Parts: sequence; structure tokens; C-alpha cells
Amino acid sequence: RMDGDIPRTDGGTGRADGSTEDVALDPWGSASVGDYADLFAEFGIESFDDVVDDVPAPHYLMRRGVIFGHREYDAVAEAMANDEPFAALSGFMPTGDPHIGHKLVFDELIWHQQQGGDVFGLIADLEAHAARGMSWDEIDEHARSYLLSLLALGFDPEDGELYRQSENRAVQDLGFELGAKANFSEFEAIYGFDGETNVSHMQSVVTQTADILYPQLVDEPKPTVIPVGPDQDPHVRLTRDLATRVRYFKVTEAFASFELDDDERQLVRTAYDALAAGSDGSGGDGSDDVRSADAAEWLADYEPPAGEAGDALRAAKPSAVETLRAGGKEPLRPRVRFLDRNATDEAFEALIEAVDGEKRVFEGHVDAFELSRAEAASLAREVELAHDGFGFRQPSSIYHRFMTGLTGGKMSSSIPASHISLLDDPEDGYDKVTSATTGGRETAAKQRELGGEADECPVYELYAYLLANDDDGLAAEVYTECVNGERLCGGCKEQAATMMQEFLADHQEKRAEAEAVLEDLDIDLDSDRRGTGGEH
Ligand code: TRP
Ligand code: SF4
Repeated sequence: RMDGDIPRTDGGTGRADGSTEDVALDPWGSASVGDYADLFAEFGIESFDDVVDDVPAPHYLMRRGVIFGHREYDAVAEAMANDEPFAALSGFMPTGDPHIGHKLVFDELIWHQQQGGDVFGLIADLEAHAARGMSWDEIDEHARSYLLSLLALGFDPEDGELYRQSENRAVQDLGFELGAKANFSEFEAIYGFDGETNVSHMQSVVTQTADILYPQLVDEPKPTVIPVGPDQDPHVRLTRDLATRVRYFKVTEAFASFELDDDERQLVRTAYDALAAGSDGSGGDGSDDVRSADAAEWLADYEPPAGEAGDALRAAKPSAVETLRAGGKEPLRPRVRFLDRNATDEAFEALIEAVDGEKRVFEGHVDAFELSRAEAASLAREVELAHDGFGFRQPSSIYHRFMTGLTGGKMSSSIPASHISLLDDPEDGYDKVTSATTGGRETAAKQRELGGEADECPVYELYAYLLANDDDGLAAEVYTECVNGERLCGGCKEQAATMMQEFLADHQEKRAEAEAVLEDLDIDLDSDRRGTGGEH
């Protein structure tokens, strides 16, 4: 990895006015983020730096820090490295023309396809109709245009799947099942929905959770990445939850017949380890000697470490001690436990049957003494799948930074000069780049003396996010020459504008070629749906 050589862009996070924006992730709000670092602490999104080294041959958007965050992408990276199955899926609301911001996601999908993943691209037409009030005619037109660009950039429709939400019956059915595990209070809390929110908008949320899990439905459960902007994270979080809620069994560790929560379990583990080690100096198996009540006394004197994790344990200590005391003389023995969550009776019976070795069956759970946690987890999934369950894994996600608008501020489809549409006339694209704001100094002399501020420059972003493509050398050269004062904005923009013009001309040529490919696909882009004309 070429860390340090490859300049990072800040996605316009440099708040020139010094304002502090509240962190909020709103899928239907303005696509801007005050400070990407806040998303890690606030929402538990993880830094992509932590996982990039595990990716066999990271995409340039990963190398340049444009993809800045993730949830559980390690699962996908691992599958990729081991030649195991994985999938990627993203969706596009057909509310306007595709632009260079969408290109990031198109490229991410295509790259995952080239790395061997099963890749899905969908048109979120139900969402566009319900949440944005687009008419079906507008939706058809925009949907066609998104698909053409996706194909033109290299998506292989033979190898992957493209669909419209409205036409995908399996997605509708899956959404219906998932919706049974979500309620309105939750939608209120996650999305700020209220009594005024239209019901179809809510249905489109449920549909999106189904989209996200669909790759695991058409084939088998597998690591699946959802490349999106961080504004979509609420959907990812909800879907990760629902994926778990529909599972037949929950696999946990236990020590005796009683139930423990996660913190209590950790405390009991500590007590057990201490006592089991001490109970028999010979190093043999003295574990049978650890009684529940003895562990209670040991734990009563135990002081969890300082800090946040320790505080949680401290809070859980009284209840853990109490539970252990109530356990009396019952010996503690580590085991894995399968809790019945949603299983049919037949599935639960089949699971009991399938557990190898010593086991104990209780009302609502079964304990296995000779299975590892991982073995138990795959057994649970196997039985679930064999009995009409979904067996989903939690989906992963990756998040890219939003591009800064060419006019400064955020890139907005309502301000044409702020963004470049993939349908822009190449000449117009050229002009937009030459008119863009820069991170340059007031005069050439100052620029030579102080260097430009590439980190604040939308033109530099164009190089890093798009124009330099796979050529890290070019991105690094522009950056270094800029900050060293060797590069002046006029020439820099001229070069970028020419590249943009060429890119647009080439892309539009490929779009024209993709028309025939699109015709051959089984996607209805002339829907005869009736409906309201949309909110204007
Ligand atoms: N809500 C997304 C948007 O506003 C579109 C979308 C629908 C989507 N289903 C999806 C994105 C599934 C990622 C995965 O653009
Ligand atoms: Fe931006 Fe280029 Fe000017 Fe540097 S030289 S501030 S990268 S336009």
C-alpha cells in the first residue's frame, strides 16, 4: 500500500466558515457530511484504513481514501482473498440524470464484479415514486439513463443482475417478511418518520432492506457489500438488525442452565477461568469443581478494569452475582447454546437431532458441549436453510466521500454548474471545469510562494476521484506540484477540463453502444403503470 504517496482528499470537509454542523445521516436530506471522523464515533462506522490492507488489490478509490468507512468489510475482503463467494449490491433512485457522483458507485460495483463477486444493480423506482413524487414516465426515462451509464462503464449484465424494484417479485416478498419484524416506532427513531409520512414511503424502506438482502436470497448466504454514500447508513444498520431478527436460532455461549446477557457472560467467563485454573494444580480437568455459588463469591470480590468497558461490566456485576448465587451447586461448564428465535417446531427438532456429541435440551434452547461457536453457527444456518429459513449473514457496507461542488459547497443536482452530468455535452463539461473554484491563491506569485491548497480544491478532487483513474502517479503529481507551488490553477484546470471533455465524449459513445445491450435485457423501461403524476 502506498500510504503517504497517495494524497487524500477531504471531500470538502474543510469548513471554510468554521461552522460546526451536527452529524446526521438522512437518506432523503442533503447529501453532505460535516466531518467524516464524527461518523466513526457517532454511528460506529469503521475506518476503511483498518481493512484496506486485507483487500487483495484495492481499487483506487480505496487507495486514495475516497472510500473512507465501512461496516464489516473484512468479511468481503476475506472471501475475495480466499476465492470464496461474495456479492455486491447498490441501488439508484431515478430522480434525474446520472452524474459523476453516481459514477463512484457504478465503478465500485463494476470493480467488485471484476474481482469475482455476484453483483447487483437496481433502480429504486418505488422509492423515487413514493419519497420523491416522481411520475412513472420520468422514472422510466431516468432509469434507462442510469442503466446505460452503468453498462457503458463496464458492468457485465451476463454475469450480474440488474432490476427495477417494482418488477422484482422476490424482493417484494422478502420485504413483506422483513417488514413483519420492524415497527413504526423504530422508523420514527431511525428516519424521523411521523404521522405525516406517507405509507408507501415506509414501504420503500422495507423494500430497500429486501434489496440489500436479495443477493443472499437468490443464491446462498454470503458476505455482501453495499457500496453507498454514508447517508444510506441508516438503511444498512436497519437491515443488519433485520437480518438477525429473522434468523431461526441465536447462537451464544453459556455456562449453566441459566441465561446471561453479554456483559454478564463476560464476567462469568472471567470467574470461571480464574477458578477452573486454580481448582486443580495438576493442569488436568478440574473444571467440574467450579460451582455456580463459588463463582458468585469470587465475582463479588472482583473489580473490573477502569474505563468504559469496565464500567459496563461493573454495572452488570450485581445481576451476574445474583444469577450465580441462585445457581447454587450447579457446576459451571462452558457450552454453546442455540436459542430458538423463530424456528418452526420441525426445524428445532431437526437442530436437536443434528447436534453431535453431548447435548442438553431445554424449553426453547439446546446446549451443545462438544461444538465450537463457529461449528454451532454453521450448523444453525444449515438447519435453517433446510427448513425454509433465510439464514442471512449481516450485510457489509462501504462508504465513499461526497464530492465537493465545482462551485464550492456541496454538489447539488439542482445547481447545474456545481456538478457534471454524465450526459453533459463534452464542451459544457470542459467549461464547467475551467470555471470551477480552486484551492489556489489570489495571485500566481503567491501560489508559487505558498503553494495551492489541493485539499480544499474541487479540481484536485476531480483528478483523484475520476480523471486520474488507476494512475496513482498522476494524482500524486498534481497534488505535490500544487502544494509545492509548481502548478498554477489555469494550466491545472485546462488539463483537467480536457480530460473531462475526453471522458464525457468517450462515455457517451459507450452509452450509445450500450443501447443495444440494454434492449436485450429483460427490464421493462416503458412501464404502463398507472399512478399519480408526481408532486411538482
Ligand atoms: N435509497 C437509495 C438512494 O437514495 C437507493 C436504494 C434502494 C439502494 N435500494 C438500495 C441503495 C439498496 C443501496 C442498496 O439512492
Ligand atoms: Fe487546485 Fe490545481 Fe489550483 Fe492546485 S493548482 S489549487 S489542484 S486547480
